[in-house]
Amino acid sequence: MLPSEQDLRHIVLDLRQMKSFAQDPLVIERADGVWYWDTEGHKILDCLSGIFVANVGHNNRRIIEALKAQLDRLAFAPPLHATNLPALELAKLVAEVTPGDLDTVKLLSGGSEATEAAMKLARQYHRQTGNPAKYKVIARYLGYHGATMGALGATGTPARKTVFEPALEGFLHVPPPTCYRCPYGLTYSSCNLLCAHMFEQVIEGEGASTISAIILEPIGNTGGIITPPDEYLPIIRDACDRHNVLLIFDEIITGFGRTGNMFAAQTFGVTPDILCMGKGMSGGYAPLAALAYCDRVADAFWGEEGTEFAHGHTYGGNPISATAGLMSIREILDRNLCQRALEMGACLREELKRIEALGVVGEIRGKGLLLGIEFVQDPATRQQFDNRFGVAVGNRALRKGVLLRYDPHWLAFAPPLIIEREQLVHAVDLLGESILEELKERGR
Ligand SMILES: Cc1ncc(COP(=O)(O)O)c(C=O)c1O
Repeated sequence: MLPSEQDLRHIVLDLRQMKSFAQDPLVIERADGVWYWDTEGHKILDCLSGIFVANVGHNNRRIIEALKAQLDRLAFAPPLHATNLPALELAKLVAEVTPGDLDTVKLLSGGSEATEAAMKLARQYHRQTGNPAKYKVIARYLGYHGATMGALGATGTPARKTVFEPALEGFLHVPPPTCYRCPYGLTYSSCNLLCAHMFEQVIEGEGASTISAIILEPIGNTGGIITPPDEYLPIIRDACDRHNVLLIFDEIITGFGRTGNMFAAQTFGVTPDILCMGKGMSGGYAPLAALAYCDRVADAFWGEEGTEFAHGHTYGGNPISATAGLMSIREILDRNLCQRALEMGACLREELKRIEALGVVGEIRGKGLLLGIEFVQDPATRQQFDNRFGVAVGNRALRKGVLLRYDPHWLAFAPPLIIEREQLVHAVDLLGESILEELKERGR
């Protein structure tokens, strides 16, 4: 039975108006593989991995059995005084699967904790290496780095931050590489990647001695799976190296096989100094996130009393979450799910040609099994719909039984990496029906 409005008065969903949710509530009861079932018995194809989390799929028995065994052995260890075996093993495995020398791992519980910790680590690093004035962070408009105050400072999406402003001091923003709608009115590649070079302009304009870090998502979710040209990240890496600015990748969405490699850093061939991970790290079997950082940074924290990273969270590195992470990453490795993301991503792109034929697709972009579709009224003019077309289509698709990420002008697919071709075909069928129905309702 669905909860009453009275029942729903006790609970608050993320970023949702609860009054309208209460009129058509969705309560998930169970999940298996790529499917959810709600309490009314409806089956929903999970093409969003919950929210970029269930990369290895739902109800994975190997992970669940390992978690049960760990619960029987040790549920919590004292985080100030000791580590524990799953945490040690997980940190070692993360060091192995991350690129370059990102060999030191701070385990945390959520993505916002990871981005906050990364920016704090950068400040403390510079302070301990003779550059105490380096504190500012350059981020991007349309970026999202989490809900807590520091993470919000780096966030560049007004809908997520304006109501909480003033934000913390010391955050600067530049436009992201939205080539389809270049903010400078330029065209790739004659633009010479102005948007990438803009980071260095800001570093120099502010004074390099004040800039601690650049933080960005290698592929931006908010704004519609903003996918940079290949040259973009190397240009930013180079500017960071020349100005002693730490490069932080927020891979909370792009990590753990999503883009066809364990991390988007490997997909684009650029290694950050600090890599933030979360979401898919545990596959959703427990709250888990982390930072992995390079030896140069780690060395500044190894030695004298008082130089340790002055940061911690009670649940960071707890043995249950660590076991979920360990088993999830092993699933990705053992079942070669990175390769699978590439194959199924190619398959999804092929299927999406049917959607392109409907005349409202401006661009399809992304890597692996992270694909976004930008909607336009007319591909020739690139004019956007003025009344939340993407939201209307996404809502219809959900009612038909496929969960997608959707916004006024775009929607995205990010299914579990175990998804099969027939399931993708089914999802695209339902999406196509939803678009046609919405167009009909709008008189087209
Ligand atoms: C790119 C990115 N960074 C950070 C976060 C914050 O993660 P969390 O919600 O786990 O705090 C999110 C969450 O959606 C995200 O998408």
